[in-house]
Amino acid sequence: MLVTSKAILEASLRAHKEGRPFAVGAYNVNNMEQMQGIITAAQETKSPVIVQVSRGALKYAQDKYLINIINAAVELAPEIPVAIHLDHGNSMDAIKRAIDLGFTSVMIDGSLMEDSKTPSDFEYNVKITSEVVKYAHDRGVSVEGELGTLGGIEDGVGSGKTQLTDPDQAVEFVERTGVDALAISIGTSHGAYKFKGEPKIAFAIIEKTRQLLPDTYLVSHGSSSVPEEHLALINQYGGRMEAAKGVPLEALKKAIQYGINKINVDTDIRLAATGAVRKFLAENPEAFDPRAYLKASRAAIADEIKKRMEAFGTAGQAAAVPQWGLEEMKTAYKRN
Ligand code: G3H
Ligand code: 13P
Ligand code: ZN
Repeated sequence: MLVTSKAILEASLRAHKEGRPFAVGAYNVNNMEQMQGIITAAQETKSPVIVQVSRGALKYAQDKYLINIINAAVELAPEIPVAIHLDHGNSMDAIKRAIDLGFTSVMIDGSLMEDSKTPSDFEYNVKITSEVVKYAHDRGVSVEGELGTLGGIEDGVGSGKTQLTDPDQAVEFVERTGVDALAISIGTSHGAYKFKGEPKIAFAIIEKTRQLLPDTYLVSHGSSSVPEEHLALINQYGGRMEAAKGVPLEALKKAIQYGINKINVDTDIRLAATGAVRKFLAENPEAFDPRAYLKASRAAIADEIKKRMEAFGTAGQAAAVPQWGLEEMKTAYKRN
């Protein structure tokens, strides 16, 4: 069932308010095998899911291929609430294109300028985010904004500088823009190389922001765990990723307790797929049918995402999601 991300995140927020917090993973998709891995994990654990698409994914797979692959998964898994979300939208054009394609949720990352590299100032962020909220809410589409910048640079997204979110400024940002969800910078970063020493997460920022903004869905980007077993496979079968380090699942569970509702995961899907393909090809040197190694990658992705759905508490929550699609939300936003 296609729903807005507001529907899915509202189920998480309600659970937080009732003292049994869980978060929803938002998983990046670029091709059919990733989509199949994600939806299989959701079906096997009865989890709602946010499927997110970057501008890079739209370029790689072409808009039409990708949206039709995602829609096929929605159609074949009617019992699973699925939101289709634009990850790190950088301009009004990108937002309009995603909404025209049928996305039910968009992120406008106004923490960076349109080049997705240069940090913006607060007023720029408020202005672009407010414009997107107006446009998207008129069409029933949920909006995520970002305040503060994540460190790290991955595939051209990111300034390389960390600026942790100021919770008081977050209140002003949410009041002035009307965003549904807010990505906060808490010490994570995109990609596989997040920490040089021990992972450090600013739990106090989550706690304070949650206190000040009890009705806003809080988002943690750059939240892959970079599991040791995938690094080991990759390194064993010819790869070189020795210094990679992510956010441990235990730290993510703690972040959920403090108030995180949405957890973005892309890198772990890449690692699971690459480890499986490297292993398969090394163990089957005579193999040349792409279906054989892509099948191995699809199974590894499903396993990895199932682990997250269980750890984040999303498992079993499919039935808790209100059926808020675009039409319901269009009316609801108009009323407010
Ligand atoms: O935020 C970055 C996501 O991991 C998407 O990465 O732009 O390489 O698709 P991408
Ligand atoms: P990771 O690189 O940690 O998977 O983060 C993905 C992300 O934040 C997408 O928006
Ligand atoms: Zn991100």
